[in-house]
This record gives sequence, structure tokens and C-alpha cells, in this order.
Amino acid sequence: MSDVMHDREADRKAALAQLFDRSSPTYERVGVEHFNDLGRRLVAHAGVAAGHRVLDVGCGTGAVLIPAARAAGPDGEVIGVDLSGGMVARAQEEAARQGLRQVRAVVGDAETVALEDIATAPGSFDTVLAGICLFFFPRPQTAAARYRELLKPGGRFGVSWWGRPDPLWDPVYAAGAPYGRGPSSHTLPETSPFRSVDALHAMLAEAGFAEAETAEEDCVTHFTNAEQWWRWVWSTAGRQFWESVPDDERAKAVAAVNAKLDSLKAPDGSLTMTSKVRFTLAKRS
Ligand SMILES: C[S@@+](CC[C@H](N)C(=O)[O-])C[C@H]1O[C@@H](n2cnc3c(N)ncnc32)[C@H](O)[C@@H]1O
Repeated sequence: MSDVMHDREADRKAALAQLFDRSSPTYERVGVEHFNDLGRRLVAHAGVAAGHRVLDVGCGTGAVLIPAARAAGPDGEVIGVDLSGGMVARAQEEAARQGLRQVRAVVGDAETVALEDIATAPGSFDTVLAGICLFFFPRPQTAAARYRELLKPGGRFGVSWWGRPDPLWDPVYAAGAPYGRGPSSHTLPETSPFRSVDALHAMLAEAGFAEAETAEEDCVTHFTNAEQWWRWVWSTAGRQFWESVPDDERAKAVAAVNAKLDSLKAPDGSLTMTSKVRFTLAKRS
């Protein structure tokens, strides 16, 4: 990798760490069940069982880590790695609150995770999980190949990622779009392995995995009212877009979005978003 590319990727990761540090106080704490539900589903799809050793990359506040630790039990070990110190602190607090001594969460770049950082040996994990995060990595294939080395033969790599966003919400995002900028996890470059199920399966095969399979399910998120939706947006990576809206444009942008939210409201003022989420599992051959 050239020095310029290395610096660009390092800058992108530093910005991501700061973005999630800003989200971390409210992430999954605004009364909306979203990532925790998806985390439990990923752990169930991956079949984490008692005594397993699990690596959870991009562990965030523990949406995957905590249910994985529960499934692995006291004889298992679950290690989380995340770029954001704020997110990792939340995961550590939750593990301590639940008395899950089998959990370790560390701050680090999960794309290049080094064995010494997590005090482990190659071929020592039953499962590597990546919940709603691998599309943030500049080099997901390099990361996947690395995880293959960390897995035992027959071990599994499980990834959750977005399918189609709810088309009913397109007008909401379109109304805000002219006012800000910033990447969305729904807008991917043409070369991204997350552009289709086939592309992700091909990437995993290139990285040395076999038998990739993807299940697509609904991700239904309920908001009591529009105010709760706004608090939720600011608790996720979606805040990046709203941070980019200039102060003197913000009121206009919010009004444009609120007008579109009005037409999605149920009679009680609540809102429901139904996106597609995908769970991909592949095996270390
Ligand atoms: C949308 S959150 C998902 C967190 C958690 N897995 C969940 O399901 O709630 C994405 C997470 O990926 C982390 N992340 C992004 N790139 C990373 C990298 N290269 N290494 C470690 N963590 C990374 C972010 O800091 C953030 O906590």
C-alpha cells in the first residue's frame, strides 16, 4: 500500500472512531430496539454455543458481544475489538453489569487485528462475528482473510449487513439530501463487496471461505413519534449527515424532513421503518 493510501485510510478510521465516540453516549439508548435485536439474531444464526471462543469485530456497545457471551457461557471466551473508545467503554460496562467475566473488549483496528493485541494464537476461534460494521472497513477482503487465519478449521465467519432500505422512507432521505453530505451505509461504491449477495459470497471465497450462505430478514424499527426518530438518527452513524448540514440551513432541512415524516405517521403519530437485513455465514475450509 502506498504511503498516501495508508494515510487516507488512517484518516478515515480516525474520523470513524470520533464519529462513534460522539454516538456512544446515546447509541441504542433512545428507547428504540434496533442494533441489539440484530446482534441477537447474528449470534443465533452463527450458532455460538457453550465453551466457544468468539471474536466480535466492530463490537460497538456490545449488541453482538453480550449475547455471544451469554451463548458461550462461563467456559467460553468472547473478545470484542472496536475503533471507538466510547463504544468499547459502554461494552465493558454492560459486560461488568451482567457479570460476564468471559468478555474482553479492547480498543483497536479490527481490520488489522494483531494476535498480540488480543493475546491469542492463530486458529484459536470457533467464530468471528462482524455486526453491521464490515462495510465501514476500507479493506473488508483483507480483514476476512485475516479472520480466516484466526479461525479453527470448520470455524465460521458471520456478517450482518444491510439489504434494501425501506422504500417508503426514500422521500424522507431525499428531502434532507440537498442540505448536507456524507456517506451513507446504503450508498456503496460500485466495487463494494456489499453491493449484492453474490458479490459478498465471491469476496468471501477469495478470502478463503467456503459454503457462504445468506439469509435476508426484515428489520422492523418502531419510533413512538418523530422526535424519537430524530434522537435515534443522532445516536447512530446517521448523525454524520446531520453534522454536515450548515447551522444556517439546519432549520430548513429539519422542516423539509419533518414534512415527509408527517405523511408516514400512523394515526397515533408513531413511525415504522422496515428495512432488509442480511446475515451471511461462511466456513473456514
Ligand atoms: C454500526 S456500529 C455496529 C456496532 C455493533 N457491532 C452493533 O451491532 O451494534 C459499527 C461499529 O464498527 C466500528 N468500526 C468501524 N470500523 C472499524 C475498524 N476498522 N475496526 C474496529 N471497529 C470498527 C465502529 O467504531 C462502530 O462501533
